[in-house]
Amino acid sequence: MVGLPVSRVIAVTGGLGFVGKNLVQKLAAAGHQVRVLDIESEDLVGDLPARVSYRKADLRDGSQTREALADADLVFHLAGNSSGTVSVENPRLDFETNALGTFNVCDALRHKEGARLVYLSSAMTYGQPRHFPVAEDHPVAPYYPYGASKLSGEFTVKAFVETYGLSAAIGRAFVIYGPGEDPRRAGAEVGQYLRWHMNGLPIEVTGDPDRKTRDFIHVSDIVAGLTLIAAAGEAGEVYNLGTGEETSLRELVAAIGRVSGSVPETVVNDVVTDDTYRLVADVTKLRALGYAPSVQLDKGLTDLIQHLGDHPAPPMLDTIFRPSQRGAAGSL
Ligand SMILES: NC(=O)c1ccc[n+]([C@@H]2O[C@H](COP(=O)([O-])OP(=O)(O)OC[C@H]3O[C@@H](n4cnc5c(N)ncnc54)[C@H](O)[C@@H]3O)[C@@H](O)[C@H]2O)c1
Repeated sequence: MVGLPVSRVIAVTGGLGFVGKNLVQKLAAAGHQVRVLDIESEDLVGDLPARVSYRKADLRDGSQTREALADADLVFHLAGNSSGTVSVENPRLDFETNALGTFNVCDALRHKEGARLVYLSSAMTYGQPRHFPVAEDHPVAPYYPYGASKLSGEFTVKAFVETYGLSAAIGRAFVIYGPGEDPRRAGAEVGQYLRWHMNGLPIEVTGDPDRKTRDFIHVSDIVAGLTLIAAAGEAGEVYNLGTGEETSLRELVAAIGRVSGSVPETVVNDVVTDDTYRLVADVTKLRALGYAPSVQLDKGLTDLIQHLGDHPAPPMLDTIFRPSQRGAAGSL
């Protein structure tokens, strides 16, 4: 794995989540000792790979966080609320998890000589972008609680870099897809669309299918990007984690039809248009460190269809930006 010394004790917060599981597997396969930290109960841990240990901790609690990270010298901080809908419905939970949780991680590492931190943030910090592709110096202007709590986490990391010399860098992920998403929490299009389509259900498209575009990045490319940031990212710097490929929702539906061999049925929810805007990453900065996203969308979709099987659990999360929209997505 790119330049990460095997001697380090690596902690992955949120290591039982979608991105976390994929990262932990890759780190363990490369021979690293990995400590998974998560809030989930130990009976749900299941079969973690060899060399991986589990520590239950709630990162909203400063002392639990400190104890759980006591012997880690490289921390990938992935734990958080990853759902925009949850952030709208329970903004306090969102803020305590994403903002306070990130503060607790930084504070736990503050006095640890040589500790290194990689924080996984989100492109939702950009809000509705104004120029394209979106580079890291684009203004940040989140428009719902999730983006605000993730941005607060970023500012906290940067403040600890400046004030305490913490060695930390930030990845801003675009829209991640791949194996391991929990349909109870996942609201991103690729997983949702496939889960509807493979159950013979119509795909619910939220927003304008042509004007709304996204940069869909396979989770294995996120894992590669995160490890590269850990190895070579500069302290205090932010790196976009995307592909640079822009895909409209209509193109995504067409790609699903192409790789699955059956034309998807769609229903368009044009009532909820809050997130109808273009979103595509400029990844020049990470490319300069050697990053090269390698999974094309068609290949990623083909693999995911195989992974999900014939009747995966259907999506369980509505897309809500304001409480008044509750029910709008179901009334198509
Ligand atoms: N999935 C995406 O498309 C996407 C895009 C951009 C950024 N991100 C960010 O990536 C990170 C991981 O996302 P994911 O998709 O794997 O999410 P996920 O919901 O699958 O995993 C998050 C994990 O964090 C754990 N967690 C939640 N609260 C916790 C707490 N208080 N203490 C300890 N653990 C806690 C959960 O139990 C879960 O295992 C998140 O921080 C998210 O904001 C995700």
